[in-house]
Parts: sequence; C-alpha cells; structure tokens
Amino acid sequence: MSDERAVLSICITCRDGRETETGTRGGSRLAEVIHAEIGGLAAAGVACRGVKCMSHCKRPCIVSVSQNDKFTYVFGDLDPHKPAHAQALIELVERYNKAPEGFLQRMDRPEFLRANILGRFPPIRSVSPLVLRLDPIVAE
Ligand code: FES
Repeated sequence: MSDERAVLSICITCRDGRETETGTRGGSRLAEVIHAEIGGLAAAGVACRGVKCMSHCKRPCIVSVSQNDKFTYVFGDLDPHKPAHAQALIELVERYNKAPEGFLQRMDRPEFLRANILGRFPPIRSVSPLVLRLDPIVAE
C-alpha cells in the first residue's frame, strides 16, 4: 500500500448477529460494502484492507482510518446493512485527507462518526498542540 493514501482498516471477523442468516461475518459484509462504495475514491487517495480482529470485539463492526504522519481514528458500531454508515466513512476520509495531520474535531466528522469513536491517536512526530512532550518532566 502506498504511504500517500489514507488507509481504512476493516475488521473482517467482527460478528453482527446476522451470521446465521447471511452465512458471513458482519465485518466481512461491511468490508464488501465499503470496498464497493469507496471504489470511486481510490484515485483520490484511499486504500482498504481487512484485519482479522482489531481487539474491540464488543463494539462491532470496527474500522480505523490512518495514514503516515496523521492521526489514527478508530470507530465502532458500524452496521454493514446501513449504507449511511459506509457513506459516513467515505465522507470522513475526504475530510481527513484535507485536514492537517488528518485532525478532525468532533463537529468536523459526519454525525454518525461523532458518538461512536473509540480512539484517536496522534502520529509519532505530531506537531499538534494537543500533544505535549513529557520527557523533561519524567526526567526530573
Ligand atoms: S473480531 Fe472485530 S474487533 Fe475482534
């Protein structure tokens, strides 16, 4: 995968409770929906990958957005049978690609992706005012 693209990591082993009726895991179905929806955005700098468990199994389905030198976001409770959820992710990535360090305030994220955020992690070399070096404090 190119370092220039935002990466959507989709847990393909999440269960959404519809496994018996569909014969496939919820995460796998979500990945199919997102991949299909995001196909048109591939040229705009988005890549998708499947991950076998992202350790948030109690909040299925799980997706993260990341890129080198940008914040990483993790979201839960995505429903593969609600197209609006996949659309919200696509909208989020469009905004993420334009934002310095990919940082998005709560109100900058699509409404569905405000309450169900599970984590926001700065890049290692972040220059964000949100990130404070503690080394001198620890060394004292
Ligand atoms: S199976 Fe999806 S987070 Fe564990």
